[in-house]
Amino acid sequence: MPLDIVVGTQWGDEGKGHITDLLASESDVVARFSGGDNAGHTVTIGTDIFQLHLIPSGVANEGVRCVLGNGVVINPSILLGEMQSLAKQGIRVTPERLMISQNAHLITPGHIAMDKAHESALGPGFIGTTQRGIGPAYTDKAMRRGIRAGLLRDPESLAEAVAADIVKKNDQLSSIYGAPEIDANTIAAKYAGYGKLLAPYVTDTSRYLEKTLDQGLTVLAEGAQGTLLDLDHGTYPFVTSSWPTAGGALIGLGIGPKSVNRVIGVAKSFTSRVGSGPFPSELSGDDAVRLRGTGEQPWDEFGTTTGRPRRVGWLDTVILRYAKRINGLTELALTKLDILSGISEIPVCVAYDVDGEKIQHFPSDIELLSRCRPVYQTLPGWVEDITTARGMADLPEAAQKYINFVTSEVGIPVSLVSVGPGRDQIIRR
Ligand code: IMP
Repeated sequence: MPLDIVVGTQWGDEGKGHITDLLASESDVVARFSGGDNAGHTVTIGTDIFQLHLIPSGVANEGVRCVLGNGVVINPSILLGEMQSLAKQGIRVTPERLMISQNAHLITPGHIAMDKAHESALGPGFIGTTQRGIGPAYTDKAMRRGIRAGLLRDPESLAEAVAADIVKKNDQLSSIYGAPEIDANTIAAKYAGYGKLLAPYVTDTSRYLEKTLDQGLTVLAEGAQGTLLDLDHGTYPFVTSSWPTAGGALIGLGIGPKSVNRVIGVAKSFTSRVGSGPFPSELSGDDAVRLRGTGEQPWDEFGTTTGRPRRVGWLDTVILRYAKRINGLTELALTKLDILSGISEIPVCVAYDVDGEKIQHFPSDIELLSRCRPVYQTLPGWVEDITTARGMADLPEAAQKYINFVTSEVGIPVSLVSVGPGRDQIIRR
């Protein structure tokens, strides 16, 4: 009864959707366990490109069931919009295909307004959130005053709860932030409508997953964001408000650790981050543009959710060793190797220099991290286009060496390597 977990090893945007989509084709159920529509997953199948924020990437695989676990925060309007655009692309998301945990929490426009108001009040110290209401929704959950998805089954009570909550949010918006108020009654009526549409999808997903695992079927836990955005283990306070790490998968789905089989850490062949906070191997100038792209291609380094250009830098194996520790990774999936083609020498960060002292570990203290300077080892690059490679032997020697170097620096195998956005562009090792 295997549970495989896919997590991001960096600051999100590692290409988890691409890897999940492949692994989903070998799984029975794909379950999201944390975050909300702050995530953006791009899945390319043939000529179809699916941009997903909430619905698990596995949805593009026929016969695979999807779960939004208790650890997820759900904006019902975004969820319904995503269902509609999938329907236009020929994928009908029925209650048999998607189950929503009754214990997941709902995001309302009150959370979004609070997120925006709080960010602008922070001034230059802003976090750079996606402004999707994620932090305020988890705040309400922790304060034990959130609205759970179970209430979608009772639209009248849901409307009452939403209206009461918006009235309280309006108080805070005007008194703390001097921000405009929002219309409680209109929003409450909308939520009653969402309840009618989404009620058939709501269930006890923890029980469903237990039954699935007991039957010997495979569950794939799909992470959003990345290890360095984890509320406890990330670069706090420049983090998200949930636990996108392997421990978060268990809590966010209601499954115990004994079912865990593989823990796959997805790592981009270079590093990127959106939002504020320290980033030791960050690049600027032409090198950065070279890695980021210009935004013309869907895989260029611009946010799927916000459209913001991502900050980019060389691969940092100190971060990957940290992700191995925090998540108990069994293996790595290395994505976007093709983007490095044509770079004559490729620096890889292998340690940090802090005021003249060399350290090999990722500091959990952000002040220390902001003083870390990258120590690079430079590897030879390759000029060949590798997007048509389908096996390790098809890769130039220098690309193989890059992969082997990552394996030896991190101390776990690289089991998957992606050389392009297509489903067939993932090499298994
Ligand atoms: P929030 O999750 O919207 O509260 O944003 C908190 C931090 O996490 C910000 O730095 C965001 O840019 C970052 N973040 C949230 N979701 C993602 C993601 O899916 N990819 C990359 N960064 C993200």
